[in-house]
Amino acid sequence: MTSSSWSRAAFVAAVGDAVRAPSIHNSQPWRFRYRADAIDVLVDPSRALPACDPTGRAARVSCGAAAYNLMLALAAGGAPARYTTGIGATVVRLTPAAPRPPTPAEQRLHRQIGRRHTNRAAFADTPVEPAALAALTEAAHAEDGWLEVVTGDRLDAVAGLVRAADRELTADAAYLAELRAWTSEADHRVEGVDRQAAGAAQHPGELLARRDFGGAAQDTTHDLARAPVVAVVGVAGDGPADETRAGMMLQRVLLTAADLGLATAMYSQPIEVPAVRARLRDLLGRPDLPQLVLRFGYAPTTCYTGRRPVADVVDVGDG
Ligand SMILES: Cc1cc2nc3c(=O)[nH]c(=O)nc-3n(C[C@H](O)[C@H](O)[C@H](O)COP(=O)(O)O)c2cc1C
Repeated sequence: MTSSSWSRAAFVAAVGDAVRAPSIHNSQPWRFRYRADAIDVLVDPSRALPACDPTGRAARVSCGAAAYNLMLALAAGGAPARYTTGIGATVVRLTPAAPRPPTPAEQRLHRQIGRRHTNRAAFADTPVEPAALAALTEAAHAEDGWLEVVTGDRLDAVAGLVRAADRELTADAAYLAELRAWTSEADHRVEGVDRQAAGAAQHPGELLARRDFGGAAQDTTHDLARAPVVAVVGVAGDGPADETRAGMMLQRVLLTAADLGLATAMYSQPIEVPAVRARLRDLLGRPDLPQLVLRFGYAPTTCYTGRRPVADVVDVGDG
């Protein structure tokens, strides 16, 4: 079968799934190009966040997550893709693979695309079973990544690094201005993090310092970020193509969590401060720089953030 297996309609429908991916500050830093022989996922430089993401790492992670959704959607339609990373501004190029019915795993994960969301609320104290942790670890391995659960002293040390990084970031006026620009409720209904998604304001005593998206202060002593499970994820290497693959790995982990009924919160402050990121790597005793800190647990759905219309992010000109 040729690339004509992906009609423009199938492309547009798959992009509808792709844009449900998580992205740094819900900046949606992606574009999707329909070509005669391929689909390209590109970073959109006009969506850059120079203060918190000066190298474009988080944008590439976000685009990798969107590309993962795109591939799942195409596979669910019986026309799967192969991918190549890192061709100039094109972070991922998809080309048609041999048609086949979707696997049960692909169907399950595909069904979670619209259900997954970032949850910044308190999680229940219900423990997460070892089988679920094994499934999350396996999801990272399946995309050539790693997921390491941290407990005890190592969890305390990770929490200390999240707080140290958050302090350093929030001391920077440019970082704060950028964060505020992406959290203004009125203007950002199709992008950015609104007040409802932000959750309550950071509590000084909470274990893992959540990024402050401007949520209202809460009169509570309950630790909203209490951690049934905290994990750090990464991939081998830290070049641009590795960052894209990290996004694919991240999305597989997040969709697997959703399929297991788990809520997820993300913490990238310790990744955004290079010295703290190196300390986190050393703490884990790994050669690779980590890509994100995640918290998993059981919690009701909070809310879904908006997305820009598909028409705003596709280029079907030369298909
Ligand atoms: C690379 C990356 C880093 C992120 N870092 C954080 C973070 O530090 N704190 C946070 O609350 N959410 C973080 N997020 C989650 C985004 O804010 C979230 O995906 C976005 O607002 C869209 O909302 P949704 O995930 O509910 O669809 C991150 C997401 C990505 C892809």
